Amino acid sequence: MDKLLISGGVRLDGEIRIAGAKNSALPILAATLLTRDPVQVCNLPHLYDITTMIELLGCMGVQPVIDEKLNVEVDSSTIKHFSAPYELVKTMRASILVLGPLLAHYGEAEVALPGGCAIGSRPVNLHISALEAMGADIKVEDGYIKASVVNKLKGAHIFMDLVTVTGTENVMMAATLATGETIIENAAREPEVVDLANCLVAMGAKIKGQGTDTIVIQGVEKLHGCSYSVMPDRIETGTYLIAAAATRGHIKVKDTQPNILEAVLSKLEQAGADIKVGENWIELDMHNERPKSVSLRTAPYPAFPTDMQAQFTALNAIAAGTGSITETVFENRFMHVHEMNRMGASIQVEGNTVIVTGVESLNGAPVMATDLRASASLIIAGLVGKNETIVDRIYHIDRGYECIEEKLQLLGAKIKRLPS
Ligand code: EPZ
Repeated sequence: MDKLLISGGVRLDGEIRIAGAKNSALPILAATLLTRDPVQVCNLPHLYDITTMIELLGCMGVQPVIDEKLNVEVDSSTIKHFSAPYELVKTMRASILVLGPLLAHYGEAEVALPGGCAIGSRPVNLHISALEAMGADIKVEDGYIKASVVNKLKGAHIFMDLVTVTGTENVMMAATLATGETIIENAAREPEVVDLANCLVAMGAKIKGQGTDTIVIQGVEKLHGCSYSVMPDRIETGTYLIAAAATRGHIKVKDTQPNILEAVLSKLEQAGADIKVGENWIELDMHNERPKSVSLRTAPYPAFPTDMQAQFTALNAIAAGTGSITETVFENRFMHVHEMNRMGASIQVEGNTVIVTGVESLNGAPVMATDLRASASLIIAGLVGKNETIVDRIYHIDRGYECIEEKLQLLGAKIKRLPS
């Protein structure tokens, strides 16, 4: 297993480009199953999860064509079967996103039940109950979701008990080809849901309300192909900005979108960052000052994103003062805390809240990554740690951060990959 070796104490300084959003690219690649026309998806990030989704489409008999810039053309007219095997689903829970499109377009789907992961049990009961409300017959047996529908799915008025991002996306995709109108109440408002909706509209879907908590979809007979460019990754953007703040640095991130990061930018300003924004760039300057502790509470968009919680915990770990961070979305998303405390941080876990008392600096140490965003937070901790930090099990990081050591090296970090 590859490891990352980081020599801490360097202030990040420089400019980097942000890649396409993983959590927008994944549902959009699944949406290509909704039409037999070719669909071109551009600005895909170079990530393991994207490769896994392309492999999943491939194993159904769909042959995605990838060009040198990793733009992908998917022509699902060659599809042979409608199942997502456990071998792939166990490596990427987002495989569940093929369930809605397969059911809506082909009337059947067999998708391995995604297991839990480090951050929580992550059930998919809301995906299943919503699709059943649209007329699907769904059995969960032998570790698989076995779904079918006679004729077509029917539009329904669906109230999501919880805000679920991929649950909203699965139902929205299924509804595009259902008979009649579907209303999704308590829908996820994340920008990635909006990006998927915009791609579906480009394919001929009739969708209104994307970005609000009520999305209305009028089913159509069929969808056609299109060419769509994935939005920038707001979580990658925030991660580099937090790393720059933690190292008292000065960076500019380009090809991004400032208007979907308000909650994060506001917390960074509270931490003492001087932030300037343009149409597609964000500049952060700490003027070599130590950040100040901030308190925050994660919640569905537009509140502070759970995917940035671990990174902000690393910032608070070396900030001046004490801050509390409350995680309200997932039940076990503090796995990075114990590793940071091994580096000299002073973090207490109290239920779904961590109390972080900032220390002047951390001590480098060998640490282990447990999930995608925890890995990013340990890299940030290593960047501010004295001496060397080795982050193990970084396959987690390669799932969600494109060329992370190259981008950090561009910003002056002393970081390199140690092959296993
Ligand atoms: C998406 O996961 C993202 N993944 C996650 O990003 C992100 O953390 C999460 O949304 C929250 O923003 C993708 O988009 C591929 P949820 P998702 O369904 O859709 C409960 C990353 O780091 N729930 O919004 O799986 C669930 O347990 C990843 O890039 C049910 O109870 O998350 C959780 O507590 C990590 N039943 C809450 O809802 C269901 O049927 C929110 O989960 C579905 C969800």
